[in-house]
Amino acid sequence: MAMQELDQAKAEQFADRMVGVLNEGSIALMTSIGHRTGLFDAMAGLPPSTSEQIASAADLNERYVREWLGAMVVGKIVEHDPENGTYRLPREHAAFLTRAASPDNIAAFAQYIPLLGSVEDGIVESFRNGGGVPYSAFPRFHEVMAEDSGQTVLPALKDHILPLAPGLPGRLEKGIDVLDVGCGSGRAMNLLARTFPNSRFVGYDLSEEAIARARAEAEEHGTTTNARFEVKDAATLDEGVRYDLITTFDAVHDQADPAAVLEGIANALKDDGVYLMQDIAGSSHHHNNLDHPIGPFLYTVSTMHCMTVSLAQGGAGLGAMWGEEKAKEMLKQAGFKEVKVEQLPHDFQNYYYIATKG
Ligand SMILES: C[S@@+](CC[C@H](N)C(=O)[O-])C[C@H]1O[C@@H](n2cnc3c(N)ncnc32)[C@H](O)[C@@H]1O
Repeated sequence: MAMQELDQAKAEQFADRMVGVLNEGSIALMTSIGHRTGLFDAMAGLPPSTSEQIASAADLNERYVREWLGAMVVGKIVEHDPENGTYRLPREHAAFLTRAASPDNIAAFAQYIPLLGSVEDGIVESFRNGGGVPYSAFPRFHEVMAEDSGQTVLPALKDHILPLAPGLPGRLEKGIDVLDVGCGSGRAMNLLARTFPNSRFVGYDLSEEAIARARAEAEEHGTTTNARFEVKDAATLDEGVRYDLITTFDAVHDQADPAAVLEGIANALKDDGVYLMQDIAGSSHHHNNLDHPIGPFLYTVSTMHCMTVSLAQGGAGLGAMWGEEKAKEMLKQAGFKEVKVEQLPHDFQNYYYIATKG
């Protein structure tokens, strides 16, 4: 049987695209370096400058800075004047690459690319033999996650996220009991504890490192009086008190036993309480995510982190893209009668599920 002819135009177009993938993937890695070394921050404050001046402003080795500038120039992120040997970061680019640009600092998210790449061997091994890569294999996970929440959750929490549940800001003003499950570095609870001093906040996380970070921030922010943090497995919530508000921020889909966690949350909630679940925006079906603005990024984060950390514990491995359909089904199974799904204009990465027991 004759081999089917290749559609040459389609093949060439695809080859071009794959070369683009190599280049853009490389830029992602260098963008992470620009963020971690403070190079973008330093360049944003400088006039057109030489590599020596930039290295000196960022307190870095000039040879490395010059090579990085090469990638930034040919990647069209930094502008170069060959006559003067100077480099400049345009203000329009700095608006998405610097700490001052937060919450729009995309360079902070670029850190996920090398972070995930660092566990590639273990992921390849898991493709062959099943199982997964545990949380402990991701050395900078909690640090990067805290930066992520610092951009996606904190700035929007009081004025945009909480009001999604009618009456919630008023109840927090008066004083209620709040639990955050899978609280990570505790940034949301510490911010709320400072904003609503009449309410009481508890954060649970499985990670000792995350809880240590949360407690340190509580000390620093003076929120130890109404915020406490404990190392605790969310799958075995056995609360003496019941809560008015329970939150999870990006913390259900990577659980080993998400069904048990959701059931525990429903049981720990007062009858008139609210469960606010922020989780990844998307559909449970691949074909519905074709136009997702960061679909490839999210399936990658899922494969290389969210799904694998769950499978490493013999867990469900739902993955970050478990999707709205599956999330609603599981919330109903856990005992939530009313589930409203909202999305905020600032955040195309997440849905906000407002669940009540009805
Ligand atoms: C993606 S992170 C989100 C952290 C935090 N909510 C935030 O937005 O920054 C998920 C968190 O869930 C925690 N976690 C995973 N399984 C857990 C379990 N069984 N019990 C408690 N926490 C768990 C992880 O340690 C991690 O901090």
